[in-house]
Amino acid sequence: YDSTLSDLKDKIKSYPDFPKEGIIFRDIFSILRDPACLKSVIDLMVAKIEKLKWNDVDVIVGLESRGFILAPLLAVKLNAGFVPIRKKGRLPGVCKEIAYTLEYRSDVLEIQEDSINQGQRVLVIDDLIATGGSLGATCKLLKGLDAKVVGCLVLLELDQLEGSKNVDAPVESLITF
Ligand code: PRP
Ligand code: HPA
Repeated sequence: YDSTLSDLKDKIKSYPDFPKEGIIFRDIFSILRDPACLKSVIDLMVAKIEKLKWNDVDVIVGLESRGFILAPLLAVKLNAGFVPIRKKGRLPGVCKEIAYTLEYRSDVLEIQEDSINQGQRVLVIDDLIATGGSLGATCKLLKGLDAKVVGCLVLLELDQLEGSKNVDAPVESLITF
C-alpha cells in the first residue's frame, strides 16, 4: 500500500511556472494515463474512504473539471449517485452560486438546487487541494442545501498552502507535496 503510494507520487510530473510564474503545477494526468496507476488511484481512494468510514454516502459531489474524472469512478464503487459542481452558467434550472478564489484565479461555482435532498450524506471528491478555495466554497454551497458533508477526499494536497483550514469539513488526501 505504502510503496504503491510512493510509486504514484514519483510518477507525478511537475511543471514550474504553469499556468503562471511561481506556481509549480502538479499534473495528475501523468499518472492517470497509465492503466495500472489509474486502477491503483481508484482502489487506494476506496480503501481510504472505507478506513475513514466515509463509505456510507448517498451522493458523491465532483468539481468541474478534474474532479469529474475521479468522482463518478468512485460513485460506481460506493453505490452512490454523482452530482456536479460547475463553473457559473453551465447548469440548467435553479442553481445556487458562490464566488471564490483559488491558487491562480477567482471564479463562481454553481450547484443545481434540486440535486441533493435535505440531510443526504455527501462525499466531495476533487483532484487536488491548493488554497482550499474551491473545496471551501463547495462545502458552503452544500450546507446551503442542508446536505451532510461527511468529508472531502482529494488525490493530491499541496500542504504548504494549508488549504484544509479554509474548508469547513474534514479534508483527506492520498498524496502530499
Ligand atoms: C483546480 C483543481 C482544484 C482547484 C484547487 O481547478 O482542479 O479544483 O484548482 O485549487 P484551490 O484549492 O486553490 O481552490 P481549476 O478550476 O483551476 O481547473 P480545472 O477546470 O482544470 O479542474
Ligand atoms: N496542480 C494542478 N492543479 C492545481 C495546482 C497544481 O499545482 N494548483 C491549483 N490547481
